[in-house]
Amino acid sequence: MDVKQAIAERLAEARRRTEALLAPLDDVAVMAQHDPLQSPPVWDYGHIAVFEELWLVHRLSGVEPPDETLMHTYDAFENPRKVRGSLPLMSRAEVAAYRDGVDGRALELLAETDPGADEPLFRDSFVYEMIIEHEHQHCETILQTLQLVAGGYRPALPAPPPGRPVRLGMVEVPAGRYRVGTPGHEPYDNERSVHEVSLAGFRIDRFPVSCGQYMEFIADGGYRRPGLWGERGREWLADSGATAPKHWRHEDGGWLTDRFGHTLAVEPDRPVAHVCWHEADAYARWAGQRLPTELEWEVAARWDPATGRMRRHPWGDEAPTEEHANLDQRLFGCAPLGAYPRGASALGCEQMIGDVWEWTSSDFLAYPGFEAFPYPEYSEVFFGGDYKAFRNWDHPIRRQIFAGFRCAADGDAR
Ligand code: AVJ
Ligand code: FE
Repeated sequence: MDVKQAIAERLAEARRRTEALLAPLDDVAVMAQHDPLQSPPVWDYGHIAVFEELWLVHRLSGVEPPDETLMHTYDAFENPRKVRGSLPLMSRAEVAAYRDGVDGRALELLAETDPGADEPLFRDSFVYEMIIEHEHQHCETILQTLQLVAGGYRPALPAPPPGRPVRLGMVEVPAGRYRVGTPGHEPYDNERSVHEVSLAGFRIDRFPVSCGQYMEFIADGGYRRPGLWGERGREWLADSGATAPKHWRHEDGGWLTDRFGHTLAVEPDRPVAHVCWHEADAYARWAGQRLPTELEWEVAARWDPATGRMRRHPWGDEAPTEEHANLDQRLFGCAPLGAYPRGASALGCEQMIGDVWEWTSSDFLAYPGFEAFPYPEYSEVFFGGDYKAFRNWDHPIRRQIFAGFRCAADGDAR
């Protein structure tokens, strides 16, 4: 398949996935604001299409920008999520018709453009990759919303790949100078640029912390021991009244969780999710450990001692398949520990990609050599705010995102 055909297919696949996620929602639920932290699903749907018109049609061809009302209604900066339910939103059918037109023009332009062109926006098909990734990101945002639908979204839950008996514990990473970051846009900008860092030796968990491990923390009074929490963590505990991860509840001596409207027993062998940064930080302290810095996390994920190179993904440079990681929202939940041996990093860390984002101790800041591309509102404007990094980022109190964590320790602290 040639490059353009592959792009056209991936654009279509991204759209199919968005529409498949929305399909089970009735016309009321798709328009509704389900939580102040999340947009009405149909806002994301419209925003994806307006973003595509802006970048793939207007910027590529120089024709008129999208209609002004659309530009305003679907601008993420103008409209905080909590107000999006009261905007004049297109219905699902209106978005679909609008999107047909945008896709049609985007494909005509794709046929005409030179994928080898030298302008940075087109080089290596950058702008197409950006549009595809942007839709994938909004699919994840929609998924967060679907977990919050009152009464339940209730998808069929496919069986994840089986886990295997695993050895928990940590891998050792030697002290050294490592080249982190990326030279490209990849396709967004927040991992730019490549730079060398010196790290002391450290150890890091082979696996994300599991629900079973997290239950021990709860049972040992983790939420009732102020000394395990940072100052802002204690404030968050008092404000939230939390005693367990979001969606968990204790009943008849066991933990249940709500997964997209299905009530299920918490499975001890799954990575824990829906914990905020403060919970991750407290758990690590309880375990006598700490969260990794994001640089440590990146080295554990990418460093290959055999070649002396950083890999693109934990398993190598090849694009992910179903055997490498739990991606694409197909499972509506985490796979058990040990389900992806082929996704292991060279250093032996598993499930670094997929199931959960992993909180790190780092604040979200620019790497040296960072330059915003193609627009500063993607990441630059968030640098230095109240965000913790997983190179993605969010506020340290957020729990609706699919975030868990793994722990680290200093190299000499055996
Ligand atoms: C990178 C996940 C924080 O959801 O605000 C979507 C992704 N950027 N549209 C977000 C994004 C522009 C972004 N996060
Ligand atoms: Fe967006």
